[in-house]
Amino acid sequence: MIQSPTRAPCSGRSIRLAFAAALACASLSGVTQAHAQDLRPARFCGACHGPIRREWESSAMAKSAKNPVFLAFLADARAALGDTVTAGCVSCHAPAAAVTADYKLESDVSKEGVTCNFCHNVSAVDPSPKPASYTFDGTDPLLMRGPYKDADPGIAHRYVYSEIHTKGEFCSACHEYASDGGAGVAIEATYGNWKRSGAAAKGKPCQACHMAPYAGQAAPKISRNHRDQVHGHSFPGPRNGARLDSVATLSAKVEGGRLKLTVSNHRAGHTLPGGGGGMRLIQLSVAFFGLSGDSIQGEDVQTYGIRYADAKGKSPVPKWLARTIVHRAEIPSDSAAVEWCDIPARAKRAEARLVYYFIDPAYLGSMNQQHVDLTGHLPVVMARATAKLP
Ligand code: HEC
Ligand code: HEC
Ligand code: HEC
Ligand code: HEC
Ligand code: HEC
Repeated sequence: MIQSPTRAPCSGRSIRLAFAAALACASLSGVTQAHAQDLRPARFCGACHGPIRREWESSAMAKSAKNPVFLAFLADARAALGDTVTAGCVSCHAPAAAVTADYKLESDVSKEGVTCNFCHNVSAVDPSPKPASYTFDGTDPLLMRGPYKDADPGIAHRYVYSEIHTKGEFCSACHEYASDGGAGVAIEATYGNWKRSGAAAKGKPCQACHMAPYAGQAAPKISRNHRDQVHGHSFPGPRNGARLDSVATLSAKVEGGRLKLTVSNHRAGHTLPGGGGGMRLIQLSVAFFGLSGDSIQGEDVQTYGIRYADAKGKSPVPKWLARTIVHRAEIPSDSAAVEWCDIPARAKRAEARLVYYFIDPAYLGSMNQQHVDLTGHLPVVMARATAKLP
């Protein structure tokens, strides 16, 4: 029933947007698979899928093409590597713009970031670390691919059951990739980390946690169908509703004369931090106090996350300059990271803290200088623990 696209961007019958391909297309004739005017903005879908649209609007993915932090880093990337870098960035951050070659984000749907009429037209995903490894079928922009075999959209649009939408592989298109078109160092590794987790072993895909299903209607007022499973579209994450203060637990105790700090991760279906190579960091630090509460010493114990160096060895650098990984530590899924500290003389109490940084503090100075709106990106204390020392 489903045909491969007939209007492919460069050659072949379907497109697989990788950095290189997207760049090549950007500099070629501008022949595209779908035209911007063929793709509908979310408000069109929301006329019938009102609750889904409202949920989606609250998500970080809906805002990704307008996100001031993304735009500031995109400007830096363009200053460092030239304007052609944009095509690669938008292939994940504003994919409707990428598949219509609207690299200036002129149409409404391009500005919507990861939007309805993009996700529901994806017909295949390659779970390898190639960036933006989705196949977008623009042949019939109003053919919706989704989880129902018996959808009843009437004349609203066509539909087809799509197994890939029910699997974690779907999300790997953007949440699993490496530099150099997939051949270099890990940038987003969430899918691979999930694949090795207890959640994956129990058959819980990304959707089970980030699109938790509820009983209800996919198109209230329009369709009479009541469903056991309508999937939440608010994609909870650290910038939208995921309670970072309950995701990890921290304990501190003395063993063999040293301080043992245990950071457990039993809630995320992947390592912590869950993604954002070169950007997200979780800092574990400890402070020691004397008998009268006087501060004796404070130290950073471990930094969870990935830090990169560029071709000249400069570090830290953002993901688009990454050539080597200079630091990588993570809190494993369904398990714990254990760190040890020496206890300074006179110390009677230790206080440990686990702090989540959305943006590597190394970039905060430059963000502040550029007056970037950092709302929703301020550090969060995830957990604390104290121990009495002998
Ligand atoms: C293969 C897909 C992909 C490509 C290509 C990509 N990104 Fe990302 N980017 C992501 C994902 C996924 C996240 C979210 C990570 C998370 O939340 O843990 C992200 C997060 C970010 C963030 C953090 C946003 C915030 O508000 O905290 C910035 C900044 C960013 N990317 C900039 C860029 C730039 C600039 C480029 C191009 C040089 C680029 N990205 C290319 C997938 C991609
Ligand atoms: C005029 C009303 C209307 C509009 C506009 C509309 N839809 Fe639908 N859609 C429906 C109805 C009704 C159903 C069937 C619901 C059911 O059977 O439970 C449906 C079903 C779906 C499904 C499920 C398909 C499947 O096989 O699982 C998807 C996905 C979908 N719509 C996406 C969209 C997107 C994306 C847009 C915007 C580009 C959109 N719809 C616009 C009415 C509409
Ligand atoms: C068992 C539930 C569960 C499953 C399964 C799961 N996640 Fe998560 N995820 C979480 C929780 C809880 C958080 C919040 C902690 C955090 O931000 O790291 C999170 C955070 C994230 C983040 C934000 C990471 C950051 O620090 O910026 C991304 C992106 C993400 N998940 C994507 C995925 C993808 C993609 C999959 C499947 C390949 C997946 N998740 C599977 C529970 C889950
Ligand atoms: C990041 C990709 C993504 C975006 C953006 C997205 N969806 Fe979905 N949607 C999915 C996936 C995946 C499923 C199926 C989940 C499953 O079965 O596990 C789904 C399911 C659906 C369904 C079937 C009912 C249900 O919830 O299971 C409808 C209808 C739908 N989406 C409409 C929309 C509309 C309307 C928008 C925009 C307001 C939208 N989607 C945005 C990925 C997306
Ligand atoms: C077309 C690329 C693309 C696809 C496909 C995609 N994502 Fe994302 N996702 C992104 C980008 C880009 C961001 C970061 C947006 C930003 O920070 O501005 C992101 C961010 C997230 C976040 C972090 C939200 C937060 O509050 O920090 C979660 C959770 C997430 N995605 C889950 C999923 C899940 C689950 C799927 C599969 C059903 C999925 N994504 C599919 C591109 C994608």
